[in-house]
Amino acid sequence: MQAYNIKPGIKMSKKIKPSSMEAGVVGLGLMGCSITTCLLIAGHKVIAVAPVSTDMQHAEKRIRTHLKRSLKEKLVKYAPEHYLKRLTITEDYGMLKPCGLVVECTLENMDIKKQVYGKIESVIGKNAILTSNTSAIPISLLQEHVKFPARFFGLHWAEPSHTTRFLEIICGNKSDIKKGEWLYALSHQWGKEPTLVRKDIRGFITNRIMYAAYREAIYLVENGYATVEDVDRACRNNAGYWMTLAGVFRWMDLTGVQAYHAVMKDLFPTLCNSTEVPRLIDDIVKKGGKGVANARGFHRYTKQEAELWEKTFTDFTYEIRKLALKYPEDVVKKKLKGTRK
Ligand SMILES: NC(=O)c1ccc[n+]([C@@H]2O[C@H](COP(=O)([O-])OP(=O)(O)OC[C@H]3O[C@@H](n4cnc5c(N)ncnc54)[C@H](O)[C@@H]3O)[C@@H](O)[C@H]2O)c1
Repeated sequence: MQAYNIKPGIKMSKKIKPSSMEAGVVGLGLMGCSITTCLLIAGHKVIAVAPVSTDMQHAEKRIRTHLKRSLKEKLVKYAPEHYLKRLTITEDYGMLKPCGLVVECTLENMDIKKQVYGKIESVIGKNAILTSNTSAIPISLLQEHVKFPARFFGLHWAEPSHTTRFLEIICGNKSDIKKGEWLYALSHQWGKEPTLVRKDIRGFITNRIMYAAYREAIYLVENGYATVEDVDRACRNNAGYWMTLAGVFRWMDLTGVQAYHAVMKDLFPTLCNSTEVPRLIDDIVKKGGKGVANARGFHRYTKQEAELWEKTFTDFTYEIRKLALKYPEDVVKKKLKGTRK
């Protein structure tokens, strides 16, 4: 029989102190910097390894900016220096030696990740856990390129990692589930509401769900049902209204399961199930469009508008975090506890 409700049975009582463990981050681009910020805020001493020289130029400034803003938003109590004292940025992989946990956060490229694992594993201890922030490479595939696959996991963060509550901990075929549960418990200390993905699958949970949505959105535009603007507006004002409170299952519970059952029968056969990369996105990428980063994406931007979108997104992540903290996963349980007092 298929198990729909697997309870992890993880002992959360054993509190793990981040301050007692050094953490390593390898790759200091967009995500590596926010992951480093998150780990510093949680109390870890962080060894941040820069595999390319540009990281050395930008990483400290980026992390400092995150910490400054976090202070302004009252996400942290102390000024950036307090946290930066615990940070080492280096090009030397050897500095990772004392780390109990390493997060690899380099480009989404198998060959690069493979090389980086060799360098990390040649220095870290036998009991250290090695993880990858890969967006969609199956963990079992990455495990083929490490010496000790049992201690290897996917650790999938959402940008900006120091404000988002999302974290997927993904087991590969050869991962030791006990170590996965340990990571799951530890990540609560990072301010996360984590998910333990016990069986490896390409794209994990949210990317599988979101990519189904991206494919359908592109299908609707390519086939003239709506414009990019219309699709975005509909998504923002529908899913955007409930998704921070409720996941897809809670949403169906809240709004009536029977209606979904009725719709699925007739709607599913009409949904896009293409396996090709759609023309709309292919054309943008082939012409060098990156999105807001270079003001060329699905929408049109002036340079100034693109910059302001980036800033507005950053502002929004702090705002939505405040709302998310008011509505944690156990919000109803907490309310009930309050009424029983
Ligand atoms: N951007 C996101 O929102 C997001 C979300 C989830 C997961 N991820 C994943 O996180 C990882 C990093 O993504 P990012 O957005 O931080 O990318 P990025 O382009 O900002 O940074 C990539 C980093 O890779 C490293 N790198 C580049 N060339 C290298 C080389 N030849 N050898 C070794 N290291 C090299 C550098 O440290 C560089 O800063 C990817 O696997 C990506 O799929 C990204």
